[in-house]
Amino acid sequence: MAVQSTVAVATTLAPLRAALDPWRNAGSKIALVPTMGALHEGHLALVRQAAASADKVVVSIFVNPAQFAPHEDFGRYPRPFETDKQKLEGAGGVDLIYAPGASEMYPSGFATKITLDGPAMGLETDFRPHFFSGVATVVTKLFVQCRPNFATFGEKDYQQLLVVKRLSRDLDLGVEILAVPTMREADGLALSSRNAYLSPDQRKVAAHLNRVLLKVGERAKSGVPIAQAEGEGAAALIAAGFDRVDYVAIRDAETLVQVRSVEKPARVLAAARIGSVRLIDNRAV
Ligand code: PAJ
Repeated sequence: MAVQSTVAVATTLAPLRAALDPWRNAGSKIALVPTMGALHEGHLALVRQAAASADKVVVSIFVNPAQFAPHEDFGRYPRPFETDKQKLEGAGGVDLIYAPGASEMYPSGFATKITLDGPAMGLETDFRPHFFSGVATVVTKLFVQCRPNFATFGEKDYQQLLVVKRLSRDLDLGVEILAVPTMREADGLALSSRNAYLSPDQRKVAAHLNRVLLKVGERAKSGVPIAQAEGEGAAALIAAGFDRVDYVAIRDAETLVQVRSVEKPARVLAAARIGSVRLIDNRAV
């Protein structure tokens, strides 16, 4: 078992900089792991990748109001800070937790937003138009505040990963984005903080998402037309008990543009709802 140790917590910018500046001045490479907390093994995989790539690891925990629409789950999003801290201490390899308050990130009068094109177009944006602007704004702030050499992001949120890669390049933020494969339950369900909302029956339905994505990928690879494979996938999700399918889409793995065939690396991505719980997942094709 990993040795339990206390990890320092910074909740404002001054102690954050007081911790990071000496590390940077000593030539240490710093990796940032941005999270919204309610940590699970997927987040801990990001921490492990960060620790393997850098000398110092900072984990940020901030439930970012800017990426939730008024009708979404910002209010009920889980915030188990003490448990999260213990998980990070138990996992080892974390040097600092940055857990700013909303007033630290968005002080009164805050009026700046990042707008996006490219990989942010379509898919999630069709259903959560505010989402990537909120993510990009907070990620830019976190990068500027922490000035890390690396940041780890999960393939679980594949479109977000591509948006953040593009953002870091486009704005010369100087942060190398490291992609981490999706961690899954034994039955294939991608770990997610939102899985906690699922009832036992809904949890069984949820396991179909990964299976359907694998099947859609196989069908497209075997020559079934893209639109047909996508349509079969959406129908299979409804048949499995999902209440609504936002999208099942096969896209270019680098740019997320639509493809006619899967000769180049492609990705099949989906978002679907069970009751009020919205799940997303994706698989390489
Ligand atoms: P959150 O949902 O907490 O996820 C934080 C990071 O963990 C993201 O990079 C996400 O892709 C990764 N992650 C989540 N589940 C994973 C899994 N099963 N396997 C591997 N990685 C996984 O994504 C966000 O927070 C926010 O949008 C954020 C980037 C922090 C900006 O607010």
